[in-house]
Amino acid sequence: MEHKELEAMVENMTLREKVGQMMQLTGSFFSEDGVITGPMSEIKFEPEVLKNTASVLNIPGGTALKQFQEAYLKENPHGIPLVFMADVIHGYRTVFPIPLAQGCSFDPELVKKAAGIAAKESAAAGFHVTFSPMADLVRDPRWGRCMESTGEDVFLNGQMARACVEGYQGDSLKQEGTIGACLKHFAGYGAAEGGRDYNTVDMSELSLREQYLPAYREAVEAGTALVMTSFNTINGIPATANKWLMEDVLRKEWGFDGVLISDYGAVIELMKHGVAATKEEAGQLAMEAGLDLDMVSPVYGTTLEKLVKEGKVPEKWIDRAVLRILELKDKLGLFDNPLRFPELMEKEDEIQLCKEHREVAEKLAEESMVLLKNEGILPLDPKNMQKKTIALLGPYADSRELLSTWTLFGKEEDTVTLKEGMEAVTNASEQTEVRYLVEEGCHILDPEEELVGFHQQIVKNDWSETEIEAHLQNAVEYAAQADVVVLALGEHTQHSGESASRASLRLSKGQIRLFEEVSAVNPNVIVVLFSGRPLVFPEINVGAKAILQAWRPGTEGGNAAANLLFGNANPSGRLSMTFPKHEGQIPAHYNRLNTGRPALGRSDRFLSTYCDVGEFPEYPFGYGLSYTDFAYSPVKTDKKVYEIEEDIKVSVEVTNVGDRGGTEVVQCYVQDMVGTTARPVRELKGFQRVYLEPGEKKQVEFIIKEPQTRMITRTGEWKTEPGMFRIYVGKDSSAADNFEEVEKFSIK
Ligand code: GLC
Repeated sequence: MEHKELEAMVENMTLREKVGQMMQLTGSFFSEDGVITGPMSEIKFEPEVLKNTASVLNIPGGTALKQFQEAYLKENPHGIPLVFMADVIHGYRTVFPIPLAQGCSFDPELVKKAAGIAAKESAAAGFHVTFSPMADLVRDPRWGRCMESTGEDVFLNGQMARACVEGYQGDSLKQEGTIGACLKHFAGYGAAEGGRDYNTVDMSELSLREQYLPAYREAVEAGTALVMTSFNTINGIPATANKWLMEDVLRKEWGFDGVLISDYGAVIELMKHGVAATKEEAGQLAMEAGLDLDMVSPVYGTTLEKLVKEGKVPEKWIDRAVLRILELKDKLGLFDNPLRFPELMEKEDEIQLCKEHREVAEKLAEESMVLLKNEGILPLDPKNMQKKTIALLGPYADSRELLSTWTLFGKEEDTVTLKEGMEAVTNASEQTEVRYLVEEGCHILDPEEELVGFHQQIVKNDWSETEIEAHLQNAVEYAAQADVVVLALGEHTQHSGESASRASLRLSKGQIRLFEEVSAVNPNVIVVLFSGRPLVFPEINVGAKAILQAWRPGTEGGNAAANLLFGNANPSGRLSMTFPKHEGQIPAHYNRLNTGRPALGRSDRFLSTYCDVGEFPEYPFGYGLSYTDFAYSPVKTDKKVYEIEEDIKVSVEVTNVGDRGGTEVVQCYVQDMVGTTARPVRELKGFQRVYLEPGEKKQVEFIIKEPQTRMITRTGEWKTEPGMFRIYVGKDSSAADNFEEVEKFSIK
């Protein structure tokens, strides 16, 4: 549609109808028997408001959604279709690994491909927008939503956020099989104090701009159709009412002109935050911040008309918001066809979970899993497993719960369990006749634990004392008979995700007991860990012969883990988030400041460390093992001295010095040695996945462009300062000392 046609549509609407276009509701509001909970339950919207609602979220897809649109259009006086949005966070029906795991792939291209599949499956089900990517930088694994982020690094998060937006949106939202992206949660939600969800965020503008904002900006520059405000305050002002963040930064500095939507109920929560005494004040604050769409809160729908009539909100602000929403619907092609892609919807059954989609899910899961430890026991070679016995034990040994609480449309019945994956590998190899002894051995939760699930369901360990002992004894007997034990442990699905913060990052006592009793009768224990966050597992770090971090791996998780265990695939995952030795070290991220008293591993007093556990994490950002090994030459740069705006060309030779082909994630870090503000000890500026056959070597090049050496100076400017820079290239953030020092200078 022409812009002027959209403007005319706005002019033809009454104020009440326009207000309707600034609301997103759940499906419950439109069905007779709909159950409405929370602050909405006491609100009754005027029929004209309800008939003009802009959007509905998270209703079932397919025929139901089609009928929903048709019924709605019969009522809407201007024939303006609904836009259907949903939380397709890591896949629609084909579920990929959680984003924190996808970050470990260091493979934006594959992440983009997966996002494209999620888009196609969502569009085939009739959805138009996904509430993804979540580009919140996270440094605190106590925060249950770290699972939805791609980790602790500025550069990696930016690359992944861009990959998702491009994967979802393609070249145009008119293109069949695309969906609109909604970048979230703007901004800084991952910095909630204490890792407690929804908690206060308070940081310097320097940290906000250097660490937390760049990944969001990358998604905006990639063209995300929407941005969602976050629940938290930032320096005292809730994001949803934060004019500086939404108008000055997002709109004016970054040029975002799409739709700004609140998070669920965040507008009415301005009252709970204590910045609004009434719904009217909340509505006025959100409008002043430029919020276009109120997600499932009673504020816009019941206060905006009054605010306009009282002159507290100019009607032109309403018009501006409605125009953005109509522009989104137009961009999505909804005015051409309210169903967008009816032909694609006809083919939904053949699209969901098709073979090609499962193959991508398996590959991404393989690339996302991280080998943390291996004392020569992996890979298990099917060829010499003849007549061997594998004890496959633990609550995840044969579990389909490999998805996450942010899997709204995927089904556990579609997932491949670890047992099924392992049997598929060994059955496929003629030479092997492996005997599997399979036993859970313990419940995932301790008897005294009780989890309130994402849908308020209660999850608890309902085994009797007798059952607990019987399962444990059976597992120990199996371990005693086996050549090797694969012990599949982890967190419960409901232990991570929204409002799932944990003060302890330990496995349940029952799982630790299982590990200890099994290890006592068989030293050959391989632990596979399924979790939505970095955990702390000191006993396993010491006693296990190998540890594979499998995360929440999605539909193909069992096949991916099995391929890695048996060497059909060589692990290439590298940690997107630091694993601390102890919760007390949090935050333990790698790109910290040096402080005036760096301990560097020493334990003398008067140094910045912990006298009980030291300052180093268990496993640092970027870390991960392979079944082969790689050697690095000293770093070389094309010059030693550069003018400030000159690119720094970095090269290093990487050699596969092992006996098996494998992929190395070559990581390039920079340290700005001296600045007018203190600089991080390392910052990732580039990475490349490089496959090498045994003995093969390759020259790997990085170009560090001037914007990448910019910082917030003491005077608050965003620029590169002259001085010495150290370039590290290696296999993780504790990259070796093969660095090169270069100088950037400015012409006085
Ligand atoms: C939730 C989440 C947000 C999600 C939205 C819609 O509370 O914070 O990430 O997209 O509501 O479900």
